[in-house]
Amino acid sequence: MKKMNILFEGSERQNIVLIGAGGHAKVAAEIASMIGFDITSYVDDNKALWLDSPQWTDEVAQQHFRTIKGTQYFIGLGGQTVSSLQKRYQLFLKYADGNTSISPILIHPRAVVSESSRVGMGSLICAGAIVQPMAEIGNCVILNTGSIIEHDCRIGDGTHIAPGAIILGNVTIGKHCMIGSGAILLPGVNIPNDTLIKANSLTKAAATLTAPTEITTSTTRTI
Ligand SMILES: CC(C)(COP(=O)(O)OP(=O)(O)OC[C@H]1O[C@@H](n2cnc3c(N)ncnc32)[C@H](O)[C@@H]1OP(=O)(O)O)[C@@H](O)C(=O)NCCC(=O)NCCS
Repeated sequence: MKKMNILFEGSERQNIVLIGAGGHAKVAAEIASMIGFDITSYVDDNKALWLDSPQWTDEVAQQHFRTIKGTQYFIGLGGQTVSSLQKRYQLFLKYADGNTSISPILIHPRAVVSESSRVGMGSLICAGAIVQPMAEIGNCVILNTGSIIEHDCRIGDGTHIAPGAIILGNVTIGKHCMIGSGAILLPGVNIPNDTLIKANSLTKAAATLTAPTEITTSTTRTI
């Protein structure tokens, strides 16, 4: 995991290509713009009506990335299922193209990220999200609006922590997991790769899983 390419106040603005032009791309684009990136093009095979920037197909973008080595990109596609998150992560690897392209970390100015945490490239940390000390966030992770990652958690590559989810201390979450909005994971829970945790559910340490699965034992919060 690398900690790299975070723009700070006073840095020169940088160009970036955003992969995806749907709803989640709007969130990523706004954060990118706030922290000093200019989006030169969006990549989506479907025409996005909201855009006022150039739009490329995936094929045109791939050609561009092959020609102009070192172009910065960011995966602006969201994902709410394990299979869509797996595909999203494959896309992230495809654009990385043997590490010739760079995917920065986008952190909303009003997210709180502990200096002792580590965040992997291509990850998005949205407004109001909190990452506590010694947490390790993988590559191409989404920490969505208002999510909380407590101390010493480990979040695997390509996982999506949806808005308002609370991940308590020492939790380990594998790759390409979907942690639904408002879910609470109690301390020490271990979630394997490719797991879906339902929105608004409570996962206890006793529910620690040993194989990829959908959690069905969670209970709905009543608050
Ligand atoms: C788990 C989930 C994928 C299930 O979706 P689904 O397949 O459309 O659900 P279903 O329509 O099959 O519902 C099946 C049953 O589970 C219940 N159910 C579904 N989701 C539930 C949830 N999160 N909590 C409690 N019960 C739930 C339904 O009420 C239904 O009950 P019933 O059999 O009594 O009718 C979905 O609820 C979920 O949590 N998705 C994550 C969404 C999210 O957080 N997105 C983030 C956006 S940024």
